[in-house]
Amino acid sequence: MSISGSNDDLELCRTWNLPLETKNGWARLVFDHDVLVPAWIESETPAISWDRLRVLGFFEIGSTNEEASLKARQGAPEGLLVYSESQTSGRGRKGRHWSSPAGTGLYFSLLLRPENSLNRWPLLTHVASVSLAQVLNELSAERWIPQPLAVDLKWPNDVLLSEKKTAGILLETVQQEQHAAAAVLGVGINVKSGSLSDELKETATSVSAEAGVSIARRRLLVRYLYHFQIGYELFKRGQYQRILDQWKAHSSMWDGVPVWLHDGDQRRLVVTCGLSDMGALKVRAPDGTEETVLAADVSVRHSR
Ligand code: BTN
Repeated sequence: MSISGSNDDLELCRTWNLPLETKNGWARLVFDHDVLVPAWIESETPAISWDRLRVLGFFEIGSTNEEASLKARQGAPEGLLVYSESQTSGRGRKGRHWSSPAGTGLYFSLLLRPENSLNRWPLLTHVASVSLAQVLNELSAERWIPQPLAVDLKWPNDVLLSEKKTAGILLETVQQEQHAAAAVLGVGINVKSGSLSDELKETATSVSAEAGVSIARRRLLVRYLYHFQIGYELFKRGQYQRILDQWKAHSSMWDGVPVWLHDGDQRRLVVTCGLSDMGALKVRAPDGTEETVLAADVSVRHSR
């Protein structure tokens, strides 16, 4: 992509930290797999579930989920991707903040308009986490990656590398005229080592830190969108059991693993014993009673 003459365009490129090459009074955007440019993401992503992907990019925004919800209310079609280089109020589960510094991570939201029954929509988070696990395993198998990635899924929607959180998923529904009109699937991925504060480094990691090499963000995003659409096709066809089986195949903690269930300041020890048809976690308490957990924080109890 060439940027001609206009000082505004050049200023924009500098603000966005895009790599420019200047020659004979012309500036050219250097092609690089890390750079996030809407037109490049659109042209590199195969369209499987949508006629075409539409991409809206921001340098800084409050929250991409917020922006995608706004677009949904304005009638934007399925297949809109909103991303931002950084977020000032990135949202995590349970009202938590999602740290989103510029240039180091992927922060994006996909606008979906599923026709499946609403009670199945939570399974979209399973599709989303399985897709990322597939991408990371694929990446891990490539010869140029110095360190293999130990990918694991933690219920309900965390993607872990070497037992540390690397990505999170936040599914929100957009209500219109008393019914759910759209789903906004927000994904945050720590890609570069610099994406984490010292405090977060205790419990979180990044794809690049684990792979031992800098991973290009756009390449990761495009691959992710490919895998996600394949999973989304399964979802649209009602192949829920297949989605759950895929999730289980990528997770080490859904059966027979002692975990802490956190509820506010309280926590109690249970043992996992499966997933329900809706993707909720089944657990067994010490007295043998079983329950299905719809929303809670879970942490694996390590014996070390
Ligand atoms: C979690 O694990 O708590 C979910 C984190 C989801 C973060 C992403 S970043 C892009 C999108 N926009 C947001 O405001 N949140 C999600």
